[in-house]
Amino acid sequence: MAARPGGRRCLALRCPREREADPRSNSQSPIQAKINSMPRALITGCTGQDGSYLTEFLLAKGYDVHGLKRRASSLNTDRLDHIYQDVHEAGARFFLHYADLTDGSSLATLLYDLRPDEIYNLGAQSHVKVSFEIPEYTADVVACGTLRLLEAMRRTGVQCHFYQASSSEMFGSTPPPQDEATPFHPRSPYACAKVFGHNITVNYRESYGLHASSGILFNHESPRRGETFVTRKITRAVAHIKHGLQHKLYLGNLEARRDWGYAPDYIRAMWLMLQQETAGDFAIGTGEAHTVREFVELAFAHAGLDWKDYVEVDARYFRPAEVDFLCANPSHARRVLGWEPTVTFQELVRIMVDADCAEVDRQLAGGISAVRPEAAHV
Ligand code: NAP
Ligand code: GDD
Repeated sequence: MAARPGGRRCLALRCPREREADPRSNSQSPIQAKINSMPRALITGCTGQDGSYLTEFLLAKGYDVHGLKRRASSLNTDRLDHIYQDVHEAGARFFLHYADLTDGSSLATLLYDLRPDEIYNLGAQSHVKVSFEIPEYTADVVACGTLRLLEAMRRTGVQCHFYQASSSEMFGSTPPPQDEATPFHPRSPYACAKVFGHNITVNYRESYGLHASSGILFNHESPRRGETFVTRKITRAVAHIKHGLQHKLYLGNLEARRDWGYAPDYIRAMWLMLQQETAGDFAIGTGEAHTVREFVELAFAHAGLDWKDYVEVDARYFRPAEVDFLCANPSHARRVLGWEPTVTFQELVRIMVDADCAEVDRQLAGGISAVRPEAAHV
């Protein structure tokens, strides 16, 4: 476990919840007492799109942030490199710990040692199409991983607020608009596992009185979105085509409709949920849906290209069961959390295309002349 940080000068911007006494320490130095007054968050999935934005958000609010990182054979912290702090630096407030949602003992140890005020469970095998290929693993991480974390919370007795990253995919084929009261009809192993994660979060709240909230988030995107999700696949292709590095873009179902928002807006919603007196469930989306085809049209047009010259449909990208239409009714979140999205669909497309074009410019300036081949068929 990383050493607890020392010598910090940052100010916490909100009162931390009262900490229970740490049974291992008899007395506290003044500096230790100050450290213990900082709100402390634990994030699973901190190396992902949402985790990286949430880490930045919480650090800016004065939190100590502890991220769970799973072991990989090469470095996988690209999204965090710009905020990485060496633990030896005085004032470091961001720490990474090796653990895994498939390893319950590592989770319990982390909870016991860190005693966080807030836990954000964002870790997941989050790709819907991939979940058809690795369904057991997906269920292990997404469903059982959530249970392991909740059980670690209960058994260690750590008093903290818990956020579960639930998904609009849980609604599946139930028609829109979808909100907290809409019945689930999941259409993939991923969505089935998320339904379990959601229900077990509600169950632990009701059974053990845990402050456990579930954010039912609709699709949210950004320049940090994984490259095999459809929006990023499109905007990367636009940038590469624009620079003559790619000639075709192969996609699946162009008629699927999604409620796409901007990821940093959704991070704010997660945090707001954990600041409530009472835990609950919240659907988070813009309330506006567009087809994949519309996203494609806008993205190519923004780069001065006609998408019909480049896009082809390839059935290999179809899913065994599709989710046709997701669109949020976010009125509960608006009313209770005061949450509103700030970025429109059109702005989102522009932000992502511009970021990918800038990235290709940067790579070309560095002498890279070939696109990284698409390794996945999703
Ligand atoms: P993402 O970019 O795919 O990130 C997933 C994170 O989970 C990564 O940090 C990944 O680590 C980690 N992870 C994977 N397997 C793990 C394991 N066995 N143990 C611990 N960590 C593991 O996903 P995202 O878009 O940021 O989404 C965050 C969460 O919100 C996910 O739970 C997702 O299902 C959910 N969600 C996302 C959306 C959306 O539109 N983005 C909407 C609704 C819900 P590596 O970096 O090592 O792979
Ligand atoms: N990935 C991908 N690749 N999707 C494609 C393609 C393609 O080539 N062509 C068409 N699509 C369609 C998919 O069939 C789907 O209907 C839609 O584009 C969106 O696909 P993704 O971007 O992969 O996202 P998703 O909606 O399946 O899942 C995302 O959103 C969920 C929330 O609703 C993920 O982030 C999930 O983790 C998240 O829970």
